[in-house]
Amino acid sequence: MKTVLSGIRPTGNLHLGNYYGALINFLKMQEDKDNRCFFFIADLHAMTTHPDPKMMQENVRNILATYLACGLDPEKATIYIQSQIVEIVELELLFGPFVSIAELSKVVTFKEKAKQQPKNVNVGLFRYPVLMAADILAFNADYVPVGKDQEQHLEFTQHIASRFNNRFGVNYFKEPTPFIVKDQALVKIPGLDGSGKMGKSEGNCIYLVDDPQTIEKKVKGALTDNGPEGANTPKPEYIENLFTILKVVSTPEVVAHYDHLWNAGEQKWYGNLKKQLAEDIIKVTSPIRERINDIKNDNAYLRRVTQAGAAKARESAGKTLRDVREIMGLNYFA
Ligand code: TRP
Repeated sequence: MKTVLSGIRPTGNLHLGNYYGALINFLKMQEDKDNRCFFFIADLHAMTTHPDPKMMQENVRNILATYLACGLDPEKATIYIQSQIVEIVELELLFGPFVSIAELSKVVTFKEKAKQQPKNVNVGLFRYPVLMAADILAFNADYVPVGKDQEQHLEFTQHIASRFNNRFGVNYFKEPTPFIVKDQALVKIPGLDGSGKMGKSEGNCIYLVDDPQTIEKKVKGALTDNGPEGANTPKPEYIENLFTILKVVSTPEVVAHYDHLWNAGEQKWYGNLKKQLAEDIIKVTSPIRERINDIKNDNAYLRRVTQAGAAKARESAGKTLRDVREIMGLNYFA
């Protein structure tokens, strides 16, 4: 049995890039009988950027509804909200002494955030990798599916696991393996403004909750040009982007058709390409959107799912915490 664990920070609606980069993998892993899966909403990590309480509630509700709408199944995986598992918070505290200020200061994501918000370089941001280690080690996860940007954080989890084991002469924590999705095209669904990755906070992406008209409008507005300047010319990045999305949502025949038009150096088919692209995106997202909207308003169901998930997660994390306390000598007068 392998333990798989991953979380998403609730900072906005999930988009097509999250779906193909993260959620599809979660689904595959959940269906494997040899996996014990934990999927959670990393709300405590989101606190580092001071979200508004109302937005926080809304975002957590949306992500939870999206998880369920995409097919994550509370019967097959443990689905929970991070802040409802107090054991994680205590582990984070206990792990603090296993990492140095110097190391944490060198974390790329920390340095970037510090640059972005120089007036708000808070301790929460600083301890971000330690909290992630607590998330993961609370369940002694074997595999952690994440994006490439999380690799360095996972190294901290590995360090903390091995330092803890060495310090106490035990073989208690496993060093988790990051499961970085190999196919970059699937992880980096490009934005529609012609460049870069689809980011939740950038205005260039297609959300799973976007209605058909919105999707059509966004795709129509994607950057194009007059067409290839000759036969077999390389595609500029913004055209390549459209093909990248087409490859994940359409059939190979459709992709081959437009590839052929490009390579033949033909012009005036971008309109058709965009129509097809919008149609195929809508085909993928429509059933998900409808389910999100149903589930989102079912407060009793969401409460039931998160209560059951928290109970399961706390049982497992509670056992880890008891073991850790004992190993560290914090089990007085036992
Ligand atoms: N930091 C991750 C991100 O921003 C989210 C996250 C928090 C996470 N804790 C985790 C991912 C534990 C995997 C495992 O994407």
